Amino acid sequence: MKTQTESKNLTKRLNTRLQAIKPDMIHSFDNEVSDIPGIIKLTLGEPDFNVPEHVKQAAIQSIMDNDSHYAPVPGTVKVREAAAHFLANRYDIHYDPKTEIIATVGATEAISDTLRAVTNPGDKVLLPGPTFPLYQPIIELNGADVVAINTEPNQFVLTPEQLQAAIDKDGDTIKAIMLNFPSNPTGVTYTANQIKALADILRNTNIIVISDEIYSELTYDQSHVSFAHYLPDQTLILNGVSKSHAMTGYRVGILAGPAALIGRINLMHAFSVTSASNPAMAAAAEALGSEQGRHDTESMKAEYKKRRDFVYDTMTKLGFTIPKPAGAFYIFAKIPERLHMTDYDFCLSLAKTSQVAVIPGAAFGPGGEGYLRLSYAASMANLKTAMAHLTTYMETH
Ligand SMILES: Cc1ncc(COP(=O)(O)O)c(C=O)c1O
Repeated sequence: MKTQTESKNLTKRLNTRLQAIKPDMIHSFDNEVSDIPGIIKLTLGEPDFNVPEHVKQAAIQSIMDNDSHYAPVPGTVKVREAAAHFLANRYDIHYDPKTEIIATVGATEAISDTLRAVTNPGDKVLLPGPTFPLYQPIIELNGADVVAINTEPNQFVLTPEQLQAAIDKDGDTIKAIMLNFPSNPTGVTYTANQIKALADILRNTNIIVISDEIYSELTYDQSHVSFAHYLPDQTLILNGVSKSHAMTGYRVGILAGPAALIGRINLMHAFSVTSASNPAMAAAAEALGSEQGRHDTESMKAEYKKRRDFVYDTMTKLGFTIPKPAGAFYIFAKIPERLHMTDYDFCLSLAKTSQVAVIPGAAFGPGGEGYLRLSYAASMANLKTAMAHLTTYMETH
């Protein structure tokens, strides 16, 4: 029997833009393969380390201190000061913790608040990709339009020529550009020169740069350079502790930028959540503000690097073409053409016959077709088994 919700067709009465959003392929594919017996899942971008003890203690201490009242909307003074210290110390970018930083509920809330604060219906947002699939639906929910720029032909780096061409074409209707480096899904990051070349073009426009640098602490072959280093007055920086300190479930992100913009985005933040949670902010302050927090990331990073090298070497030998991932914890590999398979068919076949789950590249938008994304935020033992299974698969197909 139909429920009242079904018979009255209430889903059709929901926000029309929400109705038009397609389900995200990462989670639908992950669900599709999760029940395969013995499956090794290298699908999600979720660190496999435990949260460091001193960071946990900070959360516990906050609870024991009855730190149970509403925090200031932009976050506790302590977490904002720790974030300002972290950004200055690590990337030489300088923010006033009183007016230029907000602690959000994960980087996700920072993405959502920022895009809601920046865009009006009809605005365009430049989106170099393949990229993290969260940006597009949020942009579209606001009635703004995505202008996808395919970076695949240039090893997944946006070129100044591509940026200039997009600006020449769409002019003043472009409200913002959404960048992400080190990148999910490619692991590719930008050099200082590449950033500077893009910043030099953007400086002559009034386009707002939203730079998602959540993987900034996980760079293996070069130090991270922030976009704000070259264009501070026009850039909003997103960061957080989810990836750097394996704290995805604590839900603390950081948003930093010029006071005039942050002041208005803080209103969106207040409308969404009032403020982040006190114990989680206490833990994030410890992670970002302490010397020990810095060492935690170093040791996780050393482990990720070993895994990256192992997976990269194995898959390259098996015939995959892979842009060398300089950061994050993903391998974005081109599926050998000799197999004559789409990325979706390959990933499904690999999961079913060899119990290894990776995500089809098309999930990350234009430029991702024909690729797969493997997350090496998994134990070395699982990665070794997965690579052995992949080797057998490639030898028999
Ligand atoms: C590029 C990128 N930005 C943001 C996020 C979300 O971060 P958080 O868990 O802090 O909301 C992720 C998570 O996978 C990501 O890959």
